Amino acid sequence: MNHEALPKARAFEAQYGPFITDAQRPVFHLTPTIGWMNDPNGFSCYRGEYHLFYQYHPYSTDWGPMHWGHAKTRDFLHWQRLPAALAPDQEYDKDGCFSGSAVEMPDGRQLLVYTGVHKRLTEDGRMTEIQTQCVAFGDGVNYEKWPGNPVLDAASLPAGGSTVDFRDPKVWREPDGTLRLVVGNRTADGSGAILLYRSEDGVHWTLVGPVDASRNQYGRMWECPDFFPLDGKQILFVSPQEMSPIGLEFHAGNGTVCLIGSYDAAANRFTREKVQAIDYGIDFYAPQTLAAPDGRRIMIGWMQNWNTLSCRENNQRWFGQMSLPRELSVRGGRLFQNPVRELEQYRCRPVTYQNVLVCGETTLAGVEGRTIDLTVEIRPAAADLYRCFRLQIAKDGTYLTTIRYRPDTSVLKIDRTHSGSNADVVHSRSLLVPPRDGRLKLRLILDRYSVEIFANDGETAATMAIFTRQEATAISFDAEGSVLMNVEKYDIDLNRKEDSDV
Ligand code: FRU
Repeated sequence: MNHEALPKARAFEAQYGPFITDAQRPVFHLTPTIGWMNDPNGFSCYRGEYHLFYQYHPYSTDWGPMHWGHAKTRDFLHWQRLPAALAPDQEYDKDGCFSGSAVEMPDGRQLLVYTGVHKRLTEDGRMTEIQTQCVAFGDGVNYEKWPGNPVLDAASLPAGGSTVDFRDPKVWREPDGTLRLVVGNRTADGSGAILLYRSEDGVHWTLVGPVDASRNQYGRMWECPDFFPLDGKQILFVSPQEMSPIGLEFHAGNGTVCLIGSYDAAANRFTREKVQAIDYGIDFYAPQTLAAPDGRRIMIGWMQNWNTLSCRENNQRWFGQMSLPRELSVRGGRLFQNPVRELEQYRCRPVTYQNVLVCGETTLAGVEGRTIDLTVEIRPAAADLYRCFRLQIAKDGTYLTTIRYRPDTSVLKIDRTHSGSNADVVHSRSLLVPPRDGRLKLRLILDRYSVEIFANDGETAATMAIFTRQEATAISFDAEGSVLMNVEKYDIDLNRKEDSDV
């Protein structure tokens, strides 16, 4: 046991975090207090505020023994930093407090459920990792690990379940007051399954059974599950490792998969109806959702991918960002996602254009910036379909980020080859975006280090991190053939709401 681990992390972040100025961070996307951030954890409502924890290694901008960083918000955009919540300080979690989740208990405490990791030497001399599920109770700032930890271990697994890959519990409360959690596990076929457990008190858990499994179809290990009802359907989110690419739907490596179906809780039977990617861009992983008191289901993801970690700005003292929280819905059997509506309170300096004829490169006065909410809607200007439409953002004489659409194939290509990183990693992705009534509508949310694209009112989302210097603010439009375009652009200013309240 290492009682110093948490006070040490808290002292470190308090001393060195303030060296990172606001100008060095995104304006409204959460970054770690200092050091490294990966998955969102414990995204939940507690005592009327939204809490978000995250996988955290304060001491460097690389992954290391996992702590839980902590922040809270009332509007999903202004984040208040809180001291680190968990550190690897017990025998059962000495090698990391991995991903997990949170829920408010009836007695007012906040329950954290996380994966405790410890390494062990096997009989034949190999180092192996043991993953168990552990809990801690707290008041929104300070947490105490349950003396009876772990609450789920090898004995809680169905036959053939791996003790090495058993992680990322997502907990919630059912309307009858009982608790459920889903957790990722590797099965005997080497690929992932999601297990469901139930509990009355958060510390004694019973296996209900598996909810679904990859069977080596959608990647190998399934990480970071979430399981919730939405618009009359049941949704299972998983973040698979080692995906095989499938057309333009799933790319290789770490992906995000949304399984939409129906769920018979009495029989614990989840019936898949549709399987789709959650985000089709480059940087989005391990999303987690919360149920807001107003009924919205809101998702946040790690705006990064394990395979592109070298795409970064090397002199930063932080690495890893959270996505913008997104409102989810199911329409026509498909997952839709749109920026949280709170963003609209901070939009200012609107610039709009209607029916602009684009046939060649065009710029529009007032349409530029790196912290903006930009909607572009295009349709063919002539009976002949245009061949290609290009939108270039974060642009100057050297840099640009391109979003290109070909209406004949409905392929949208996002490309950050010239967006500030010379790392030899994936810099582009193609995705299918069928037009609606012959039109394409793209909403782009730009912050200093990211682009999030919501196509056709949230039918498809694609996210990427960019590291282009901040001076590159220009935006241009270009068409081969002719296009009629409407543009609506706002700057995002987080101080705006306070100003107008005065
Ligand atoms: C997903 C993940 C989780 C794990 C955590 C460790 O990105 O691999 O499965 O809990 O990161 O930091």
